[in-house]
Amino acid sequence: MAFAAAFITAFAAATVSAAVPTAFTLEMNPPTASKEAFVEWMAANRGEDKKFLGQRWDRYQVLLRSKALTNDQTKRAFLLTPREEFVRKFQRVHTYADNFLDIGFGVTISGPNAVSKMTSVLDIQKGDKVLEIGTGSGYQSAVLAHLTDKVWSIEIIKPLAERTRAIYDDTIARGYSEFKNINTKPADGYYGWESAAPFDKIIVTCGIDHIPPALLKQLKTGGVMVIPVGPPGAQHVLKITKEANPDGTIKISRSDIFNGKVVPFVPFTKLEGDAIAGSHNK
Ligand SMILES: C[S@@+](CC[C@H](N)C(=O)[O-])C[C@H]1O[C@@H](n2cnc3c(N)ncnc32)[C@H](O)[C@@H]1O
Repeated sequence: MAFAAAFITAFAAATVSAAVPTAFTLEMNPPTASKEAFVEWMAANRGEDKKFLGQRWDRYQVLLRSKALTNDQTKRAFLLTPREEFVRKFQRVHTYADNFLDIGFGVTISGPNAVSKMTSVLDIQKGDKVLEIGTGSGYQSAVLAHLTDKVWSIEIIKPLAERTRAIYDDTIARGYSEFKNINTKPADGYYGWESAAPFDKIIVTCGIDHIPPALLKQLKTGGVMVIPVGPPGAQHVLKITKEANPDGTIKISRSDIFNGKVVPFVPFTKLEGDAIAGSHNK
């Protein structure tokens, strides 16, 4: 019996290390000299499927040209994040398409362009504390986990939050140790995550017509938030900065990261008891 247990443990460990042969560190940097070099390195070190790696590289090239990826660390995070783990199996053929995809429960995984631009604008540094509102598929937080080891993410749809938690737990078991740094909870993100605040960066992935006061409060002075703001289905993605004036008062600045382009997001909903009831729009 003891021998059988030891054999199973050893076999499980071997399976995990075979899935992701080299553990992630924030210094990990796949080669970008050519598609072939990238794909070969990732297959050898991360154990990922060469078909998806090739598609990830091709989307990466488009994101570089469109200037959605604008800093080195976010470029690296895009290249290291297996988006195919976070789309539904029947959608996997579309994993690296430009558009958002249905993930069930009436919501979507944002498209690579929006994720890349919003993450680039946050300019996340190692050790930054980052809060995401709207875990959804889990892909955005997976990108964040390749930038910092301190990520918190809130999802309002409980069964979706549980499904995505199971994806993180499964990928962690296969060797994606970086996802251990993603803290998740099913809740209404309008009120932020008080016990973990303050945050250096906040990313909101659902649309609302105002900035939730609790999120602004939980953003550090010197911090940055990106948030889709506007009427239903017609938001502008804003970069919000919170700075201290010389006299100690707080200055909030906003700019449109897509230069006036409307980007529709799923609504920032609210709870009544355990049920989702309408949105937080005023
Ligand atoms: C565009 S989708 C998901 C994007 C997600 N970041 C991803 O990578 O897949 C936005 C998500 O926000 C969630 N959401 C909406 N209102 C919310 C709220 N009040 N608190 C937390 N999550 C909310 C939705 O249920 C949905 O899953």
